[in-house]
Amino acid sequence: MLRQFSMDFAANVLFGEGSVASAGEVALRYGRTAMVVTCPWPDEQVPQFKRVLRILEDAGIRVVLFNRARSNPTSALIDEAGAIAREERIDMVIGLGGGSAIDTAKGASLCYAHDGGVWQYTYAVDDPYPIFPEKLLPVIAITTTSGTGSHVTPYAVLQNTKLRVKTAVIATKGMMPNVAIVDPEQVVSLPPYQTAVTGFDVFAHAFEAYVDDHSNPFVELLALHAIKIAARNLVSAYKDGTDKQARYNMAIGDTLAGMCITLNNTSMPHLIGQAIIGKRHEITHGQSLAIAYPEFVDCALPFYESEMAKVARLFSPTLKHVNDGEAASALKGILIAWQRELGILTSAAELGVSEEDKEAVLEETLRTCAFLTQKARQSRAQVSAMINRIWYQRF
Ligand SMILES: [Fe+2]
Repeated sequence: MLRQFSMDFAANVLFGEGSVASAGEVALRYGRTAMVVTCPWPDEQVPQFKRVLRILEDAGIRVVLFNRARSNPTSALIDEAGAIAREERIDMVIGLGGGSAIDTAKGASLCYAHDGGVWQYTYAVDDPYPIFPEKLLPVIAITTTSGTGSHVTPYAVLQNTKLRVKTAVIATKGMMPNVAIVDPEQVVSLPPYQTAVTGFDVFAHAFEAYVDDHSNPFVELLALHAIKIAARNLVSAYKDGTDKQARYNMAIGDTLAGMCITLNNTSMPHLIGQAIIGKRHEITHGQSLAIAYPEFVDCALPFYESEMAKVARLFSPTLKHVNDGEAASALKGILIAWQRELGILTSAAELGVSEEDKEAVLEETLRTCAFLTQKARQSRAQVSAMINRIWYQRF
């Protein structure tokens, strides 16, 4: 039987150089008071953040600044943002930054109208509370990185530091930002390492949505284009952040790849990365999943040879002259070389994850992988062997 699928796309994306100038006008659609959620501003990007606040204030928006979002946001912090949003009686939440700021904004919107704390609405609890999308506050996402795709997804990822678990809010259409503003000028000053790891996330979103049983022709179209963009532009953006064309292209790739995971989902590397960050939250998202890639490529290869051959040929067009088996087998080496060129680390031990946490990472990965239906889902022994190799691998 030919496959059926349903699709939800992002409603409103304003894209391109200078598009952030419309932030005030966009905000006025939703009211007069906005909570702007950001991480502490990196020195290199202070002018970009200030510019957005000025645009909002010039439009007559009252700004309540919450600038304490953090990488891998905690449930406690999101609850706090939600409580401030209630006290200040805000009309909308603006997530200004990368995935952490945007996810915190989505979480604050949820907490504004839903009691019990954000953790009760996540996949980590047995009987999550229901989310009523009509009660959520409008969310505007303004990106300052190119990688998480959060501006066009219904996902909000968070961690519980007491339980040492990283998970996500139950994905519902209402968690999708109402408007996303993607202005590549906002990204030009992102430092090289952050450019590399967030850019790797673009590749990972596209790859995992495509190399999966639940992919479909629309995911394939978007994913292959996003991967082509990352393969041809990420190193340039990493080496020269002021390369406007590379930044523009990566912003397109980020948005396409975000749409891919909205249409499908991520898979094993994200689950392994999530389990690792649950134990060591200082690790950045893109970095955590990059270390899982060589192993994931090995385990997926027998099931997705033609897909992986297409991906390999996007990185190395000369592979057009060899058969699918040979092209697909080259992918692992291609990705390792790419990661090395981007200065991305390659093992859990290198990232400082304690040996004592390995067993817990295995258990958490097995728990979350139980939801995967892909052909490449592995047995306990296989996942255990994967985690072992991820811990100590050297390339
Ligand atoms: Fe991701």
